[in-house]
Amino acid sequence: MNKKVTTSSLMKMKQEGKRITALTAYDYPFAALVDRAGIDLILVGDSVGMAVQGWDTTLPVTMDEMIYHTKLVTRACKRSLVVGDMPFMSYQSGLDKAVENAGRFLKEAGATAVKLEGGADVCPAISAMAKAGIPVQAHIGLTPQSVHQMGGFKVQRDEEQLLKDARDVQAAGAFSVVLEGIPASIAQKITQALTIPTIGIGAGPSCDGQILVLHDMLGMHDGFIPKFVKKYVDISALANQGLAEYIKEVQDGSFPSQDHSYK
Ligand code: KIV
Repeated sequence: MNKKVTTSSLMKMKQEGKRITALTAYDYPFAALVDRAGIDLILVGDSVGMAVQGWDTTLPVTMDEMIYHTKLVTRACKRSLVVGDMPFMSYQSGLDKAVENAGRFLKEAGATAVKLEGGADVCPAISAMAKAGIPVQAHIGLTPQSVHQMGGFKVQRDEEQLLKDARDVQAAGAFSVVLEGIPASIAQKITQALTIPTIGIGAGPSCDGQILVLHDMLGMHDGFIPKFVKKYVDISALANQGLAEYIKEVQDGSFPSQDHSYK
């Protein structure tokens, strides 16, 4: 349980039929909670743009912001494998730039691996990074950085294309692949067809592992929650209750009491 998770241990989990647990995290306190809970993989997702920065998409997130958040997370993690998510335009405009940016996640931020979105188009980048010794997690299906090209955050249903993308990223050297927003039956076929672990989000129960955005599954906001998310707690409701109590007690003078004052 306390041994650091590696890309090889994730591969072994797939071979042994053990489900991989994954969540996002973006800062030290939450990464510490997630790591201590025993989650296998923490993704410092570019979903930070929507979950933390208040944007409508992940597109505005920058490399420097991702490095900053990844540093906060790796500082907290003793066991979980940390993956840094490559933001929009950090790997699309040339292989040298892609490898250089991927390297920053390992060299400056202490991540073990990086993730990028796409199928055949990003295979040259996956290969170049793998050749440089950087483990790469691929991400196919609903790829949020292509939201405008897809015409919205839409479930992807082209089975032939998805199977091809999955096989291509594996052949290019990815150690794992995220399957997002695809029918459960297609995710099952992909999972059976690949030797690398599949990590699903909105892709049904047959994937080798599951990932959710931490802020969604802990109920840290009152905004839109997609169908595939299960809210395990409602932190937002607890916070609202605590905040209302604090306001009332400050206003009526019952806080601070003797217990919270120095003699
Ligand atoms: O950015 C992110 O959090 C992700 C996950 C949803 C897989 O890419």
